[in-house]
Amino acid sequence: MATFASSVIHQLAYPSLLLIISILALAAFRRLNRKRVTAAMPPGTLGLPFVGETLRLIKAYRTEDPEPFADERMRRHGGRLFTTHLFGERTVFSADPEFNRVVLGGEGRIFEGSYPSSMSTLLGRHSLVLMKGALHKRMHSLTLTRFASPAVIRSHLLPDIDRVVRRNLRSWPASLRLLDQAKKITFELTVEQLISQGPGEWTENLRHYYNFLIDGFFSVPLPSFLSFTTYGRAIKARKKVAEALMELVRRRKEEKMGESVVESAAEAERSKKKDMVDELLVAEEGFTEEEMVDFLLALFVAGHETTPTIMTLAAKFLADNPSALVLLKKEQNEIRRKKTDEFEALDWKDYKSMPFTQCVINETLRFANIIGGVFRRAIADVHFKGYTIPKGCKVFASFRAVHLDSHYYEEARTFNPWRWLNHNNNVSKDGGQEAGGAPIFTPFGGGQRLCPGYELGRVEISVFLHYLVTCFSWEVAEKDKLVFFPTTRMLKGYPIHVRRHHSL
Ligand code: HEM
Repeated sequence: MATFASSVIHQLAYPSLLLIISILALAAFRRLNRKRVTAAMPPGTLGLPFVGETLRLIKAYRTEDPEPFADERMRRHGGRLFTTHLFGERTVFSADPEFNRVVLGGEGRIFEGSYPSSMSTLLGRHSLVLMKGALHKRMHSLTLTRFASPAVIRSHLLPDIDRVVRRNLRSWPASLRLLDQAKKITFELTVEQLISQGPGEWTENLRHYYNFLIDGFFSVPLPSFLSFTTYGRAIKARKKVAEALMELVRRRKEEKMGESVVESAAEAERSKKKDMVDELLVAEEGFTEEEMVDFLLALFVAGHETTPTIMTLAAKFLADNPSALVLLKKEQNEIRRKKTDEFEALDWKDYKSMPFTQCVINETLRFANIIGGVFRRAIADVHFKGYTIPKGCKVFASFRAVHLDSHYYEEARTFNPWRWLNHNNNVSKDGGQEAGGAPIFTPFGGGQRLCPGYELGRVEISVFLHYLVTCFSWEVAEKDKLVFFPTTRMLKGYPIHVRRHHSL
C-alpha cells in the first residue's frame, strides 16, 4: 500500500517538480538573456537554454530556402545586425556589408579566426587557416603568389588544369554524380599543384583517406578514441594523410640536399616548374617538417571542397536556365571554333575571352556560395553604429545574407547571370559601387584572410565548364535538392546522364 501510495505521489509529483524546475530555469535564463544581450549590443534573443537558436538555424539551412532565419530576425529587430546564440555561444549575426568589412578588415586587431578545437585537430595547428600574425602574413602572401599570380596561372596552372580536366572527362561513364567527378578532378589538380604527383595508386590511396578526413569536418566531434564514429575515423585518416605527406616531404628534402651532386630527369623537370613543396623547402623561415605537412594538408582541404561544389552548382543552375546555357555554349563553342587544332588546350587569351562564363560563375557564387559567411571572435570591444560588441563575443559575418538582399541586388533571390554583364567582379549591381564603401560581393572573403585560391578556383571552373558544354549534354537522372547545412551542396551530388557529342 505504502509502495502504491508513494508511487502515485511520485507519478504526480515528478511532472509537477519538473514543471517547476523548468519554469525556474526558463525565468533564470530569461534574466540571464536580458543581462547577456546588453542594451549596447545589437538586439536579439538567445533562444532556448543551452542550444540557443542552433536547432532553428540548422532546420532552416537544411531546406532549399534558409533565408527566413535571418529575414525574420532582421525584421523583428529592425536592422541587419542581431544577437543570437549559435553552437553554444552568444553570437552577433551580421547581414550588414559595412560591419562585414569591419570584421574582415579588423583581422588580428579587433577580430580573429575562431574555430572549434575539433576542427583545429583535423586541420593541424600550422595550417594557414589557424596561423596568426606575421607568419600568417608571410605564408598567405606565399600562397597568393603561388595560386593567384596571372603569370603562374598562365604558364603552369592553366595547362595543368586543361590536361587534368580533359583526362577525367574522357573517361566519364554515361551516368554519374557530377559532384563526385568534380571532386576527383580538383583533387588530382591539387595533388599536382602542391606536390607534383600524377594519378595512380598513391594518389587514389591518399584520396581514399582524405575523403574520410573531410567527413570529419561535418560530423559531431565525439571523443576521437571512438574510432567507429565519423569523427574518430577522420582522426585516423588524418594520421594516414599526414604520414604520406611527411614521407614525401622528407624524400624531397633529401633530394634537395643531394641536388647539387646529381639531378634526375624528373627533378630537373620539376625544378623548372616549382611546386608548393619546393617553395616551402627554400623558404627563408626554414619550416619544420610538421609545419610543412600541416600547411599542405590544410591547402588540400581549403581548395578541394569549394571549387567542385561551385562547378556542380553552375551546371545545375545552367540546366535550370536554358537561355543562360545557350549563351554560355555559344561563347565556349566560339572559343573552340577558333582553334586550329580541335584538341588544342585552352590558353590565357581564351580564359580572358569568356565574359558570359564569368557572369555565370559570379552569379553561382552570389546565389549559392559554398562559404555562406565566416565566424570570428572580438579580441577588443568593437563599437559600430551605436552598438558595442564586447571583447570575447563571437560574430558571424554572413556573406550570403548580403548577396541575397534585395536592397543590394535587384530580384536578389533569382538566378540571373546577366546582372554581371559589364561589371568587374567586385562591383555591385548595376555598376553601383558598394554599400557605404564596403563591398557587397565577397564570395572569397576579404582582408588578410582573402582566399588565396580566388583566381585558381575561377580558372578551374571556367575550364571545366568549357569542356562540359562543348563536348557533352546532360539531363537530370534523379531528383535532387540544394541544401545549405552543413555546407551548401546538392544533397545527392547531382546525379545526371551525360551524352558525349565531341571527343576530347
Ligand atoms: C570557388 C572556390 C572557392 C571559394 C568560394 C573560396 C572561398 C574562401 C573564403 C570565403 C575564404 C575566407 C575564409 C575566412 O575568412 O575565414 C577562403 C579562405 C581560404 N581559401 Fe578559398 N575558396 C575557393 C577556392 C580555393 C582554392 C582553389 C584554394 C587553394 C589554393 C583555396 C585556399 C584557401 C585558403 C588556404 C584559405 C585560408 C586563407 C587564410 O586564412 O589566410 N580556396 N576561401
